[in-house]
Order: sequence, then structure tokens, then C-alpha cells
Amino acid sequence: MPQRPQLPTALVLFASLLFAGAASLSAGAAQAQDPKSILDRIYSEAQAQRGEQQFKTSCSSCHTPRMFLGGAFAERWNGQTMGSVFEWVSVNMPENDPGGLKPQQYADVLAFVLSINGYPIGADDMPADVAILKQYAIVENPK
Ligand code: HEC
Repeated sequence: MPQRPQLPTALVLFASLLFAGAASLSAGAAQAQDPKSILDRIYSEAQAQRGEQQFKTSCSSCHTPRMFLGGAFAERWNGQTMGSVFEWVSVNMPENDPGGLKPQQYADVLAFVLSINGYPIGADDMPADVAILKQYAIVENPK
């Protein structure tokens, strides 16, 4: 009976194929759901520096950076996304000239706000693109 020993081997092989399939499926699902956030290095150092200048020009007559520091920023926007902040600020600020900045200038200012809160810096600028920014949740900086 030369075939008998082959049966368990085939079963083991089949089972491990199933397992591998399930593992890669769940890895795919985890990736699709993996929540992105503002911890994901979404702005650059240079952008934050431009944003600081822009803040001085356009925002500092009414705001100090401190108003957007610490919990203030993350709590005010808790549960929302960077896209919501970008949209809101672009439509409502500066209060004396709503929508008066270019989209990229709003993104720069928001990069400055992220930087003073110590959010991780990346290589690329935050895009002035609501659809992209809506993928990034506002979360508190655990640092
Ligand atoms: C002329 C005064 C004025 C200027 C200039 C101004 N703001 Fe405001 N800002 C306000 C007032 C008043 C509020 C509160 C109103 C509200 O929350 O609806 C506010 C609220 C905000 C908020 C929401 C509150 C918070 O703590 O998150 C943000 C964000 C903001 N401003 C960002 C900016 C940015 C960025 C600029 C510069 C591009 C700017 N503002 C320029 C007057 C101003």
C-alpha cells in the first residue's frame, strides 16, 4: 500500500495552503482598514517654516501659536480629519478675509500648527487637497 503515507502529507499541504491563504487575506484586510492619521509624517520641515511666516502675516493679528498648542488643537478637531480642518480654515479664516489665502498657503499654515505640536515630520509637503487630507485622522500626539 504505497499510497497510505501520502494522504496525511497531502492534508498537511492542503491545510497549510489554506492557512497561508487566510493569513494573506487578513493581512490585506488589515492594510485596507489601517487608519491613517496625522502621525504619518504628512508635512515637511520646509513647509512648516513657510507656514510659520504665513502665520505671522495672516493669522497672528488674532491668534498666537499657543492657541493651537497641546490638547487645544487635537481636542477641538478630535474625531475629524486633516481634510476637515483644511476645509474649515480655508472657508472661515482669516476671519477678516475668509478664503483670502491660496490653498497651498493654508496647507503651509496647518503644517506649522502640526510642527509646533511635535507631530512627526516627513519628506514631502502636505498637499492642499481636501480628498487626500480627509484620509488622515486628527489624533493626539502620544509623545
Ligand atoms: C481677524 C481675526 C482673525 C484672523 C486674522 C484669523 N482668525 Fe482664526 N479665528 C478667529 C476667531 C474670532 C475665531 C473663533 C471663531 C470660531 O471658532 O468660529 C477663530 C478660530 C480659528 C480656528 C478654530 C479654533 C481652534 O482653536 O482650532 C482655527 C483653526 C483658526 N481660527 C485658524 C486661523 C488661521 C490658520 C488663520 C490664518 C490663516 C486665522 N485663523 C486668522 C479670528 C481670526
